[in-house]
Amino acid sequence: MKLLAVLLVPLLLSVCLGKVGDFIRDCPGFFLKLNGVISPPTRFVGNQYKQICQTLNDKVEFASFYDTNNRIPVYSAYKFIGKVNCTRRSGKWFIEPQLDDQTQGVNMKSESGGTYGDHQALNKDYEKQTPRGEYHKGHLVPVYHSSTQSCANATFTLTNAAPQEASFNIRWFHHAESKMEEKMSTDCINKGWNAYVVTGVVPGNTKLKNRVLIPSHYWTACCCLDNNDVPKLSLGYYAENINKSVINEVTLQALENELNIKYGQNFAVFPGGCKMNIRKF
Ligand SMILES: *[C@@H]1O[C@H](CO)[C@@H](O)[C@H](O)[C@H]1NC(C)=O
Ligand SMILES: *[C@@H]1O[C@H](CO)[C@@H](O)[C@H](O)[C@H]1NC(C)=O
Ligand SMILES: *[C@@H]1O[C@H](CO)[C@@H](O)[C@H](O)[C@H]1NC(C)=O
Repeated sequence: MKLLAVLLVPLLLSVCLGKVGDFIRDCPGFFLKLNGVISPPTRFVGNQYKQICQTLNDKVEFASFYDTNNRIPVYSAYKFIGKVNCTRRSGKWFIEPQLDDQTQGVNMKSESGGTYGDHQALNKDYEKQTPRGEYHKGHLVPVYHSSTQSCANATFTLTNAAPQEASFNIRWFHHAESKMEEKMSTDCINKGWNAYVVTGVVPGNTKLKNRVLIPSHYWTACCCLDNNDVPKLSLGYYAENINKSVINEVTLQALENELNIKYGQNFAVFPGGCKMNIRKF
């Protein structure tokens, strides 16, 4: 009996802790905690939406809320630890096996050798575009904000990416991702505080390969908490997913107002706080 219990426990654990599961149960560490409550961004209701605790080599690196109908994420969430200068771009893209086959393991893996794609984007969806190369695989969690090489590698998963206009991708890096990194490092991390980031997209009207929805907008926001989990600072960026779009730096409140309209329902990036009486960085 005892032996059976010993054998069963690991089995039950591996069944319950599937990585396509529940943010609060499976990977709470990527979401800010306000008044003792773990507070992920709004999770839309519907079977097509999946909560992915992004796992590579058995290590959970960040979280993505994925829309299996549109085959793009709604958002990815992570904790920013501080910039390091030693991460290289792996360029090797993974997929999420559990989205197409629930019996698969927890780790992201290469699409080769499997039959995937019913519920997610594959590499070929981004290939042979006309006009050529118009859309990149745009990272939601960027390589640039990764603090380890294994996390940088894990950002190369198609459930963390959406079609992003090629030159806008580069400008988004300069005017949103790297600016936000600088502000978080200076005004939050250097004070020993904690920074949480959420980056998302708004669904547009057209698809790549009749499969992968092209977002109309990209957005990102961060919230900085002191060591008593008291919100100190917040900031957001918002832009259209087109060649020469203006990249707006906005308050969290302004961003959420915009997202409420664009998503057609109430949407909170940081539910419960980080915007009332909080100054922009
Ligand atoms: C990374 O490089 C920047 C400038 O290139 C430097 O200011 C910073 O201190 C470096 N950070 C680390 C962790 O080495
Ligand atoms: C990251 O990916 C590169 C290239 O795919 C690989 O050579 C390297 O071992 C990986 N590093 C880690 C820490 O996973
Ligand atoms: C996008 O903008 C860049 C820089 O302004 C320009 O060189 C390029 O031709 C534009 N591409 C498209 C497809 O409009």
